[in-house]
Amino acid sequence: MYILAYKDGHDPAACLMKDGEIVAAVEEERFSRVKHAPSQFPKESIAFCLRQAGITQEEVDYVVYARLTPLRTFAAVMLYYMRRPPRTILEARYALANLKLQVLGTLGQFRGRAGYQRIYPLFPKLPKVHTSFDHHLCHAASAYLLSPFEESLIITWDGKGEATSLSIGIGQGAGLSIKERRGIFDSLGLFYSAATKYLAFTPNDGEYKVMGLAPYGQRGVDVSDLIAPDERVGYRVNSDFVLYPLRGVEQNFERRFGPAAVRDMPISKEHQNFAWALQNALEQVGLSVAKMAQKKYPSKHLCLAGGVALNVKLNKVLRESGLFDDIFVQPAAGDNGLVLGAAALLYTKLTHKRPAPLTNLYLGPSYSDDEVAAVLREEGIVFHKSSDVIGETATLIKKGNVVAWFQGRMEFGPRSLGARSVLAHPGLAGMRDRINEKIKFREEFRPFCPSILAEHANELLGRAAPSPFMVLSFEATPVAKRLVPAVVHVDNTVRPQTVARDDSRYRALLERFYQETGVPALLNTSLNIRGEPIVENPHHVVEFFRKTHIDAIVVGDSIALRTDQSSQFSQTLNRGTLVTEY
Ligand SMILES: [Fe+2]
Repeated sequence: MYILAYKDGHDPAACLMKDGEIVAAVEEERFSRVKHAPSQFPKESIAFCLRQAGITQEEVDYVVYARLTPLRTFAAVMLYYMRRPPRTILEARYALANLKLQVLGTLGQFRGRAGYQRIYPLFPKLPKVHTSFDHHLCHAASAYLLSPFEESLIITWDGKGEATSLSIGIGQGAGLSIKERRGIFDSLGLFYSAATKYLAFTPNDGEYKVMGLAPYGQRGVDVSDLIAPDERVGYRVNSDFVLYPLRGVEQNFERRFGPAAVRDMPISKEHQNFAWALQNALEQVGLSVAKMAQKKYPSKHLCLAGGVALNVKLNKVLRESGLFDDIFVQPAAGDNGLVLGAAALLYTKLTHKRPAPLTNLYLGPSYSDDEVAAVLREEGIVFHKSSDVIGETATLIKKGNVVAWFQGRMEFGPRSLGARSVLAHPGLAGMRDRINEKIKFREEFRPFCPSILAEHANELLGRAAPSPFMVLSFEATPVAKRLVPAVVHVDNTVRPQTVARDDSRYRALLERFYQETGVPALLNTSLNIRGEPIVENPHHVVEFFRKTHIDAIVVGDSIALRTDQSSQFSQTLNRGTLVTEY
């Protein structure tokens, strides 16, 4: 049985489930090359899913839209404002603007022009069911139904989906129900996005930069009148600072905390302290919500999804709180992951069975070694086909080179996990600055992350646990600080990918690198230029090679070297900066 799930709007994506297993999933941005692909219809993503499975439209049994249709959204939003009428001028302005949008959307649906209706020409013979699910129900389903747990508490939190910004639910076997919701005016995600804008990063994109910036600040800014834990309802938040993108919200931040930061200018100590206070408040509030929810709906497990679940520092607090034996964070926790939830939910409704747990995110397109070599040739790149691509790459990295690594099927979700990655030696002290300045063109405060051989995780991570998707954060051990300083953040934390034994080239590379250096990890960052989506095909890698100063690209079994600069840098780095092997 094939179920196709798709969504438009922010982070459009599609996935295909075959007999309860996700066999393909991809974000539209990877094809359109516009980050987050706002308002695009996932036409290419849908086409890829069918191509990957080798099926035609007629062979798809069910199609599901991973959010509510405009009419149903309008009804949900209207109901919310009736239950929780605006209490301030800002809330009223927001509600009016929001309702206007919903009315326009609904009219569009009646005229057959709603985004989701663009699937009809692609499926002239409609499958048996074309249904749509609630946004947070999709988030909750993506977290629980694809988790390894038999029962669990479920928390979903984001900016907003329809009228909900936070939900608390429970999962038991194949059953799943949402018990409580908080609405738009109480949105933790919108609050964090509004603060992200105040710090001159792009909302709905740059929130993780705020999280990376926070440890550079210190206690000193009081935000307790804006957002604070609350024992009874989890938290309270001041909507005057929530309702981004209303202009009055920006002014409120400036009135309360001084002038906003300026994009691409040095970040002041005050703004760093603000980021610290914001992140600290989110962690306290998140913990308070989890405590309140745990008390009402006791469970040893916690499943998380929604954009706020990408905040790895909050996840760390929850994991280490002692409230739960284990937590599962659905790794595509943002709105791209809604398609996973919609497919899982429909499968469960149809079969009364749980789908297979999500253990693998290599769900995107792949290209054979011959295909990529043909592209390099066509693009005029000087390269050689290697008979020992693992050994050669390990040696390149060992010598201090930074390598673009393109292998196998592309990752679904925001993290590079060794299929579309930039790799470097995590033990070289100068490496972080070099990648930031020369290759990624990104802010110097943002941390890099490691991929770690799973059996060595205990040596580098405090309270280590499997972390295959880079959505958890851990304390760095003293060994980690000595052995892999380039991937330890300023607050002594690490956000790792643990790589278990398998037959992939990436695992083989990590093993070879360990044999040669004694370091059981690689620095792994996403293979993209600042502001662009992660690369999808070998043409994109060539573009990356041309636009950056990366030392080498390893594409399939083809290796191209930048001979003009890499050797010089290797010599510089290797003069006394290589850590002691152990
Ligand atoms: Fe969402």
